[in-house]
Amino acid sequence: MMISPIFFIFFVTLSSCYAAVQDFCVADYTAPQGPAGYSCKNPAAVTVDDFVYSALGVPGNTSNSNKLGVTAAFDSQFPGLNGLGLSMVRVDMAVGGVGPLHIHRGASELILLVQGTIKAGFIASDNTVYIQTLKQGDLMILPQGLLHFQKNIGDTPALIFASFDSPNPSVQILELALFQNDLPTELISEVTFIDTAEIKKLKGLFGGTN
Ligand SMILES: *[C@@H]1O[C@H](CO)[C@@H](O)[C@H](O)[C@H]1NC(C)=O
Repeated sequence: MMISPIFFIFFVTLSSCYAAVQDFCVADYTAPQGPAGYSCKNPAAVTVDDFVYSALGVPGNTSNSNKLGVTAAFDSQFPGLNGLGLSMVRVDMAVGGVGPLHIHRGASELILLVQGTIKAGFIASDNTVYIQTLKQGDLMILPQGLLHFQKNIGDTPALIFASFDSPNPSVQILELALFQNDLPTELISEVTFIDTAEIKKLKGLFGGTN
């Protein structure tokens, strides 16, 4: 079947109009955040500074129990990427540093190991485990919705930059979800089969109650 040129032009015009409703939606931090991110700042008030973020040039503080410094460039810090579906973090790992088992809200993570040697891995929904030792320059993709981890196994600090296909991927750490809140010990034991003495020990370590 021949497509009439008039119809074709109409179709192309329609689709390009649809895509070009707005060029960007710089976050307006004075308005509340909704499910789709922040409201758009008045374009007349937008400047180039909204599209540039410099905090990732500075090493994060690794003086903590995970020996991990995470510096985020999410929509809540970097207004220009609001609504564009992507973001980035810088992760500094001291020797022995660990990114404990965690998950991001609906976002895949693409990690680039810039310095050092790490072990990284994820657990698929059928519980198959995928682990690799990464060396400088390696990329690894951690598919969305799956528990994953990183551990510095080298004898020098490690540096990772990671991008997400979400402007605000959040992070939920498994051990903190279980042992840093007031979820009752008995109930945790009933739903995980971990014995209560171990749960109390871990609550002590991570600051949980009950
Ligand atoms: C790093 O964090 C530790 C613990 O919170 C703190 O005592 C220290 O002052 C921080 N260092 C820097 C350079 O901010």
